[in-house]
Amino acid sequence: MNILFAASEAQPYVASGGLADVIGSLPKAINRKGNDCRVVIPLYKSITEKFKDNITFVTNITVDVAWRKQYCGIFTAESDGVTYYFLDNEYYFYREGIYGFYDDCERFVFFSRAVLEMLRYIDFKPDIINSHDWHTAMIPVYYQVFYKYQQNYTDIKNVFTIHNIEYQGKYGKEVVGDLIGIPMYHFSLLEYDGFVNLMKGAVETADRIVTVSPSYASEIFDPWYSCGLDRILVNKKDKITGILNGIDCDIWNPLNDPIIPASYSSVNISGKKSCREALVSELELDDNENPIVGIVTRLVPHKGIDLIKYALEELISDGFEFVVLGSGNKIYEDFFREMAKRYSGKIYVRTEFDSVFARRIYAGADMFLMPSQSEPCGLAQMFAMRYGTIPIVRETGGLRDTVRDNGNKDGNGFTFKTYNALDMVDAMHRAMRTFEDKESWTSLVKRAMKCDFSWDASADTYLDLYENL
Ligand code: GLC
Repeated sequence: MNILFAASEAQPYVASGGLADVIGSLPKAINRKGNDCRVVIPLYKSITEKFKDNITFVTNITVDVAWRKQYCGIFTAESDGVTYYFLDNEYYFYREGIYGFYDDCERFVFFSRAVLEMLRYIDFKPDIINSHDWHTAMIPVYYQVFYKYQQNYTDIKNVFTIHNIEYQGKYGKEVVGDLIGIPMYHFSLLEYDGFVNLMKGAVETADRIVTVSPSYASEIFDPWYSCGLDRILVNKKDKITGILNGIDCDIWNPLNDPIIPASYSSVNISGKKSCREALVSELELDDNENPIVGIVTRLVPHKGIDLIKYALEELISDGFEFVVLGSGNKIYEDFFREMAKRYSGKIYVRTEFDSVFARRIYAGADMFLMPSQSEPCGLAQMFAMRYGTIPIVRETGGLRDTVRDNGNKDGNGFTFKTYNALDMVDAMHRAMRTFEDKESWTSLVKRAMKCDFSWDASADTYLDLYENL
């Protein structure tokens, strides 16, 4: 089968979060099963700078943005058996950073239209286009409105994957005439709550909707999780499926990870101790037998930072030590910086995104805290387990689907249900008690490391869904 993934970011070229990990790894797993899955992303400035010697020019075309015509260059490259396409327009994409501009709507509407136009000019005809998140949500809409009956486009099916329902691409109605350019009689496809909502358009028009874990697929019908979209999702219930994300187990492997100070595996975990010692001495943490808790996250409310804020000082006085890595809302960054000043040796804080340091935390910490308010899938808990670091999570979305509580001594982590700081503290205390029993802890660590989080099974589920279409 031929599949085209369209997204706003993909490893190894450009990443700001978990979306890039998925777009960088699922196509590989799909191709290993004898398919041709390719990826298309914008050609950002950072890609041109870092990879210019590895990408080649294919051709240039013209793309409609409402009543204007814009240049679009098509470039290509191959990475690990996957063909990538990069769509170039320097006005839209040759900037520092990838999102957060006043004209993001225009940039990604252009990109979505360009993906469909590109298909006339490349030597690849997809059976399926799988678009991901709001940036590419216009692809199924444009397909339905403009392309469905055109020669060479007739048999394509559209799948739309929701990685995070919080970001929907919501704009004022004026964007229809000036940027989106669909006829007014199709306006109802995009209209929602008095706005234009691009994700709602994809929910209307895609043949199937996927979310990144089974639990999240049922949670999004609940207004507490849906960020307003539940009414339309309930109507489209029959085409929504949850498929759990996997991780790239070749890249995330403590046995041959060049970034971490010592290698280890579930058979012999002694190298993990060296990774822990290196972290303690590098960060000047108090050197004792207390558990080190890693937190690697964006500092935003839905990651459950308020629970951590509420309980942190109590947890420090209980003996936990913390390593925090993440950036986000200033109020949270300031809080953690203040804590680091007040409790030096007990908490180390770095308020930025640093993927190398993140790996040293996954390897060197004992526990990993992720008390998310909502979590579509979450990859960090899987990275942590792969590195033998025991997750403590709230039972939501993908956290619920990947972490089993160790109450009966057969789990791979510790969980709590209610979004409440005291329940989180209770789970941490249970983790602490197990940690003090070295034998139980070691078998828990090995159990967590042995869990299979590879893409293998989920790639089959995606392929079944594509086949059915
Ligand atoms: C988003 C979600 C996260 C998920 C990732 C990849 O970043 O917030 O839960 O793991 O996408 O699908």
